Amino acid sequence: MTQDFFCGIDFGTSNSSIAAASATQKPEMIAVEDEHITIPSAIFYENKKTCPTFGRLAVQKYMNGEEGRLMRSLKRVLGTDLMQNGTILNGKTVKFENILAQYIKFLKEKAEHAVGKKIEKVVMGRPVHFRDNDKKGDIEAEKQLKDIAAKAGFKEIYLQYEPIAAAYAHEENIKGEKLACVIDIGGGTSDFSIIRLGEKLKNKKNREDDILADSGVRIGGNDFDKDLSIKTFMPELGMHTTYGKKNLFVPTSQYFDMAEWSKINMAYTYQNKK
Ligand SMILES: Nc1ncnc2c1ncn2[C@@H]1O[C@H](COP(=O)(O)OP(=O)(O)OP(=O)(O)O)[C@@H](O)[C@H]1O
Ligand SMILES: [Mg+2]
Repeated sequence: MTQDFFCGIDFGTSNSSIAAASATQKPEMIAVEDEHITIPSAIFYENKKTCPTFGRLAVQKYMNGEEGRLMRSLKRVLGTDLMQNGTILNGKTVKFENILAQYIKFLKEKAEHAVGKKIEKVVMGRPVHFRDNDKKGDIEAEKQLKDIAAKAGFKEIYLQYEPIAAAYAHEENIKGEKLACVIDIGGGTSDFSIIRLGEKLKNKKNREDDILADSGVRIGGNDFDKDLSIKTFMPELGMHTTYGKKNLFVPTSQYFDMAEWSKINMAYTYQNKK
């Protein structure tokens, strides 16, 4: 099998997509779930089953009341302590890097199936900052993402800032030279960049000079969901109430964990179950 196809993966906190291209074939988005070219970044591990399901199907199974674990927003785990800890699935501790690699492998296989060739080269999107004001965490997350791609079977792995990737897509359709402000408000992060784009610039190998400014914060749609849950839903489950003769406040940490997809995994620790 020749290895001349490569792919680009936008692994998002909420949604992901993959495109494949070759030296002679323009990048094409791959249908990853039925006819959809985007798929929710969701995995469902059904109890007593070894193969997980992904995307809309994963959410659907959970909503149908199947017993198991639904995981979302796994990108948010990158660069955090949770990466070391892992989580319990069907009675066994499984590392998050293996869970994430299963998801990336699923996308890879979809692309390979679509082009009929093995794909070993990938450009993966990355947020400008995985973590806010945490350079060490950022470097750690970047390394973890590369390791995950390698685990999924990629041999050559490159990372590209997500807003820069978005700017390049926009550049395909513009005339002359322009300054673009790219604002990418995602599920986990919001990234902002100012970049010089142009018909004549797009074939330049090194575009560093054209990236005039870029910055990002770890705030996204997930934070709104979390706040909404804490304000409206968690009080229904007893948050801010008291218990016992001494009227002690019910501890709140579990509620914060339950309100955030990436931390809901903590609810399954033996300590919490106890
Ligand atoms: N109509 C809408 N109004 C407000 N928020 C929305 C709407 N549609 C989607 N969202 C939010 O946008 C987010 C998904 O955006 P997107 O798919 O771009 O994120 P992502 O690429 O997965 O995340 P990231 O790039 O941060 O890793 C979700 O948090 C979702 O709740
Ligand atoms: Mg995104």
